[in-house]
Amino acid sequence: MKKILFVASESVPFIKTGGLADVVGSLPKCFDKEKYDVRVILPKYMCMTQEVKDKMEYVTHFYMDLCWRKQYVGILKTDYEGVTYYFIDNEYYFGGPKPYGDICYDIEKFAFFSRAALSALPLIGFQPDIIHCHDWQTGLVPVYLKDSFHGGDFYQNMKSIMTIHNLKFQGLWDVKTVMDIAGLSSYYFTSDKLKYYDDANLLKGGIVYADYVTTVSDTYAQEIKTPFYGEGLDGLMRARSNCLWGIVNGIDYDTYDPKTDTMIAKNYDAMNFRREKSKNKKALQEQLGLAVDEKKMMIGIVSRLTDQKGFDLISYVMDELCQDEIQLVVLGTGDEKYENMFRHFDWKYADKVSANIYYSEELSHKIYASCDAFLMPSLFEPCGLSQLMSLRYGTVPIVRETGGLKDTVEPYNEYENTGTGFSFANYNAHEMLHTIRYAEQVYYDRKREWNKIVDRGMAADFSWSVSAKKYEDLYNRLLGY
Ligand code: ADP
Ligand code: GLC
Repeated sequence: MKKILFVASESVPFIKTGGLADVVGSLPKCFDKEKYDVRVILPKYMCMTQEVKDKMEYVTHFYMDLCWRKQYVGILKTDYEGVTYYFIDNEYYFGGPKPYGDICYDIEKFAFFSRAALSALPLIGFQPDIIHCHDWQTGLVPVYLKDSFHGGDFYQNMKSIMTIHNLKFQGLWDVKTVMDIAGLSSYYFTSDKLKYYDDANLLKGGIVYADYVTTVSDTYAQEIKTPFYGEGLDGLMRARSNCLWGIVNGIDYDTYDPKTDTMIAKNYDAMNFRREKSKNKKALQEQLGLAVDEKKMMIGIVSRLTDQKGFDLISYVMDELCQDEIQLVVLGTGDEKYENMFRHFDWKYADKVSANIYYSEELSHKIYASCDAFLMPSLFEPCGLSQLMSLRYGTVPIVRETGGLKDTVEPYNEYENTGTGFSFANYNAHEMLHTIRYAEQVYYDRKREWNKIVDRGMAADFSWSVSAKKYEDLYNRLLGY
């Protein structure tokens, strides 16, 4: 039995700010239980719901040195769908209203978390063969494994994998402070290790010191070796390319299933979507105060509202797009400029545009189920899960060909009768608009063709079955099997 520990800063159903939580909450249960004992360790945030906290049981606690402080480390655990999830408790670090806040506090928070996660292992009696780290918050884990936790039998043979979900977020702060907080010597702060220009970079530490590095799609694994997508680390990504793999994400096919989803107005499946799916659209039009018309093409967006997601393109052609026979339903929060942009168009085109500037799991499911198309024109996209959810719900993705969007959405080819969505190559607003209009044309004038695109999308398999197997192969390879 191989033992794997996931270390991450978020996971459904406990806490979620983005796709990372979906992955950490759905991948561990997909490994072969005969061969892999996969467990997960997360922070216990005060902002988790009471329901979540009530399910945790106390395991033990200890005190740990972190720079000049001696800190309390509580350990709790819970079982979720057959997987053990541990939680590190410390109210000083995890007491805020959200998982992440000001980066200067976050650096110390996650340095604490990384050290506490490793220190807790002998106490909980779990000695992993591989520690699988996710994103910058856990970047110090591979570094610690080679440093203070090296030597002594317990940690000696532990390997580590660093998975990059988004290279944009690296965890940067000045060298002196990070040196103090992390308790690492100046040896580590040279430009071949944690130093990045004048700062210390936690993700870089993880990438340099992990045995293997992965990211969440093949195309993104290639892209980050180039200056445009490399976020200043493309040289390092090229240097580590022998140990770098892209494994595309899946989604939880139980949670995201139009046949059984309890959050949507009308359940349907691949057999009856032609008749049943639009009942969801009608219900959503009524709920959101849009013109009620089952025939009108409805385009959805569910997203963090940040530069990454391509909203500059949408903003640029929004007036033009709103002249068309479409409705646009947006759900998201993020940068104020994009929140206000959508609020403005909601006011200007009241019966066509609905801007919902908040977070709602339920409305997100309704949008995936109700819309005809889903728009995701990202500037970059390590994988993207929303387009996979859309495919599962028979909602046709319209995407820019980057990262995971390129790997998961096959562009419609009207001559070959192939494809699951629509896509465009360049980060150009009119190229996007042109592609949306092509989709409109197929939707209104060639409905049979449209429905076949939906058929193919719903038949595509983006459950974890294939990708979990790829992680298993990687674990085996790292352990020399
Ligand atoms: P990212 O991780 O970059 O934000 P992904 O497409 O990988 O993008 O994952 C986004 C996840 O967050 C999806 O599960 C999506 O449904 C969800 N999501 C984003 N914004 C909201 C929101 N405002 N309300 C509910 N769910 C949201
Ligand atoms: C990040 C990326 C997104 C990816 C998610 C899960 O948030 O932005 O593309 O799907 O992580 O890996």
